[in-house]
This record gives sequence, C-alpha cells and structure tokens, in this order.
Amino acid sequence: MGEPDQRHKAAGDRLYDLSARSWDEKFRSGDHYATDRPFEGLFAVVEELRKARLGLILDIGCGDGRNIPLLSQLAPRIVGLDRAESGLLRLREKPTDPRCSVFVAKGDIARLPFGDAVADAAVNVWVMNHGTDADIRAYIAEMRRVLRPGGLLFASVSAWSFPIAVGMAVFGRRIGDSSLDGHTYLIRFRSEEGVHHFFTRREILDYFGEWRILRMARRRHRAETPVKIAFWDVLAQRR
Ligand SMILES: C[S@@+](CC[C@H](N)C(=O)[O-])C[C@H]1O[C@@H](n2cnc3c(N)ncnc32)[C@H](O)[C@@H]1O
Repeated sequence: MGEPDQRHKAAGDRLYDLSARSWDEKFRSGDHYATDRPFEGLFAVVEELRKARLGLILDIGCGDGRNIPLLSQLAPRIVGLDRAESGLLRLREKPTDPRCSVFVAKGDIARLPFGDAVADAAVNVWVMNHGTDADIRAYIAEMRRVLRPGGLLFASVSAWSFPIAVGMAVFGRRIGDSSLDGHTYLIRFRSEEGVHHFFTRREILDYFGEWRILRMARRRHRAETPVKIAFWDVLAQRR
C-alpha cells in the first residue's frame, strides 16, 4: 500500500504549497479584505465569550488579524497564529486593547506550537474549509488538544449550497477524499485559488462529534461576501 500513500502525500504537499502561497500573496498585496472590520459572525458570540472570563484566546488562522482588535477586549492574552507570514506582519499594525498582550506565531493548524489544554478559547474563522477531510480532522483534533476541558471554540466555515455547486462545476475540480460528502475542490479562480471544502450540516455534526455544540447557525454574511454563499457558524465546547 506504500505507493498510493506516497502519491497521495505528494499531491497533498502540492495542494498545501499552492494554498499557502496563495494566502501569503493575498496579504502581501493587501487586496484580500477591503476593510479592517472584524468578522460579523463574531459579534453573535461576543457576549458569551466575555461572560466566560477568558484568560487566553487563540486566533487560529488569524490572517492579517482583522479579528484581533475585538478579541483583545475579551481576554488579557491573545495569540494570533497563521502560516502566512505577510498576514502576521499586517497584524502587528492593528490597534489592540492596551490591557491585552498580543503575540503572533507562524505555524500550521495541523501542528499547533502550543501545549495541551493551555487555552480557554479558540477562534477559527474561514480556515478549516481550506483543507481536505483528513486536514479538517487533524485541525479539529489539534484545537481540541490545546483547549482546556470546557474551553470554547468559535468556528466559521463555508457551507455547501446550490450556488456553490454551480460555481464549483465551472471553477472547481473535485479533489475530495472526504469519507462523507466529498465536497472538496481545488479552485483555480483569481483570489480564491487553493483548496476549499464546503460543509454540510451532517459533516459539522460528524466533525464535532466529540464536542458539545452550543450554537450552530447557517448564515449569509452579506457585509463580507458579495456573492450569495452561506457559512456555518459554530460555537462548540470541548468536553
Ligand atoms: C479566509 S482567511 C481568514 C483569515 C482570518 N481568520 C479572518 O477572519 O480574516 C484563511 C486563513 O487561513 C490560513 N490558513 C489556511 N490553512 C492554514 C493552516 N493549515 N495553518 C495555518 N493557517 C492556515 C491562511 O493563511 C489564511 O490566513
């Protein structure tokens, strides 16, 4: 079985490089987000996070740190982690609450450079959907490892939908190794180049099977994306 595994790994490495390069270029050119506004879905859980009196929040896949100013009001320590260095450089310029210490870390979600159970909460906005089924399982396992029992995870991921099915028929090539629905694509389309997975409700429930889901909503974030696509916003608690 060695040979197919090797082939799969080589293909995976190429996809990984493509996705990583594409984000680094996006943040370097500064054309990815038109505004510095925090992700609008975060506002729905801000009060819950505030009430939890968090000590350390990890923003995993923080990009250029648009969510860090808001998160810095919710805990005394924040770490923003991403594998795109150009995003982390931009993050350093963000205005944050002076009472909060903000750290940045370059790294991969599949191998978080943190110890077990160190964080009270993690935020993961539009990150996990840049992976195959195997990646997504690794990402969730890592986030579970670094959160303390009872810790909170807010994640937003792209949802499978009819407009996406049409879009993928035109711009995507199916590459999924998902054991569930297989909605993983390699997109070669301008700003969206890279790996994308679109989650069904069933998949969210499966991936978060070991967690307690506190909230789960399928939302359009119209202020964020001009196209009619939806996202799953999930607040889950580590058991
Ligand atoms: C759509 S951006 C979202 C950035 C940020 N969360 C936000 O809300 O603006 C996706 C981010 O995920 C990062 N990313 C994707 N896969 C990653 C991985 N395996 N490890 C670390 N970062 C990753 C990309 O570099 C990029 O910054």
